[in-house]
Amino acid sequence: MPDDKESTAVVFPFQTPKGVHDILPEDQDYFTYIKKVVRHRARQAGFRRISTPMFEYTDVFKRSIGEASDIVTKEMYTFPDHKGRSLTLKPESTAGVVRSYIQNNMNQWPQPVLLYYIEPHFRYDRPQKGRYRQFWQFGFEVIGETDPALDAQLIHLAMKIYGDLGIDQLFNLQLNTIGTSESRKKYMQVLQDYYAGKERSLCEDCKYRLNKNPMRLLDCKMEDCQILASLAPKMTDYLDKESLEHYEELKSYLDEVGIEYTENPKLVRGLDYYTKTVFEFWDKSEGAQNAIGGGGRYDGLVELMGGQATPAVGFAAGIERIIANMKREKIRVPKKDELHVFVAQLGIEAKRKCLNLIDEMREAGLKTMGALGKGAINVQLKLAHKFQAPFAVLIGITEVREGTAIIRDMKRGVQESVKMDKVTHRLVELIGKEHLDKYHPGELLYS
Ligand code: HAM
Repeated sequence: MPDDKESTAVVFPFQTPKGVHDILPEDQDYFTYIKKVVRHRARQAGFRRISTPMFEYTDVFKRSIGEASDIVTKEMYTFPDHKGRSLTLKPESTAGVVRSYIQNNMNQWPQPVLLYYIEPHFRYDRPQKGRYRQFWQFGFEVIGETDPALDAQLIHLAMKIYGDLGIDQLFNLQLNTIGTSESRKKYMQVLQDYYAGKERSLCEDCKYRLNKNPMRLLDCKMEDCQILASLAPKMTDYLDKESLEHYEELKSYLDEVGIEYTENPKLVRGLDYYTKTVFEFWDKSEGAQNAIGGGGRYDGLVELMGGQATPAVGFAAGIERIIANMKREKIRVPKKDELHVFVAQLGIEAKRKCLNLIDEMREAGLKTMGALGKGAINVQLKLAHKFQAPFAVLIGITEVREGTAIIRDMKRGVQESVKMDKVTHRLVELIGKEHLDKYHPGELLYS
């Protein structure tokens, strides 16, 4: 296991389990912004959103990601249900999306089917910077088309999103082709022959991988394994013509749209379902360590999962890592939850009047808080300061009698008395119509 020294004691008062975090309001602003960008770019390109369940039967992941992959051997949260069936929290979404494609007969939909998701995922990874046990990804899957123009468009879409978030310059695109499953089988045999007799120099993980997926030996980080890998037969010498043509065409499309890439023949990715194209976005300073996203083609997966042979290509990005990069670059996002108005009142009559006034102000798009308890007006004004409301509305006994309210500019410390039925109108003037929170989700339709 990645961290057998990890304490099993539960800390009291309770803390989150190791490797998982609360997403506090400050980070919610980043999440909201990123989700908006993703939704917008997805809609522009004809993608529709899907959410697969948080857990699936364990075999969904074993079969697709691969029995020998790190994810399946070490990182899955697996548990029996009440009938003893094995379930697993999703470590990624491609497997579930493909399961859903087959289960919901999406092969009857117009092809290719374009889906995207924004979801939490779970991996029992060793917690460290940028590596968590619950993390969010957004991802895109294009199912039902072989053309390399789709691989290129998907990469282009990812770049657009990184661009919208101000971080596209921090990463470079690593690109490779790993061939069709037939050519890979041939190459894997060549690798197994090459490693025969050298097993003793391999790390324990690689010894295990050798029989299951020898290609994973090529990107092992252990020194001895790296030396052997550097002398191993090269995959490029065993690639099939079809994959090479696909790769050349993809590169020409990337050149056409001006996307730079680094060809990396060692890039194999940690999930077994890939065929032909694989790619990752590497941090320019840290390399593969904190990849911001990755993906590739998986032309054999739908069939492997029990559907008809259907080509596909996809990509996913880690949202926490994106946020860490935005913060490192001092990129801020709009804060949508800052208050406009704090309402302070004195006496039960005033509070009664406030309730409708607060409702009226909120309906007008003013972000309003108040009528909170019985403290003196001064105490409530201090609260207004703490909540950083630019304006306060004060209603005391005199104001109730006269049918007025006081509007106080909290920064300038000046105030004016306004007729009760003009308060909202005056505050809208002061805040500015363009700053009102008037979001409308759209009309409901009744059939
Ligand atoms: P992946 O490379 O395993 O691919 O994950 C994609 C991204 O998720 C990574 O580049 C990273 O940014 C983020 N990520 C992965 N693990 C963690 C973690 N423990 N903590 C924080 N972030 C993490 C996939 O998951 C494939 N399903 C992508 C794909 C879609 N291929 C085809 N379609």
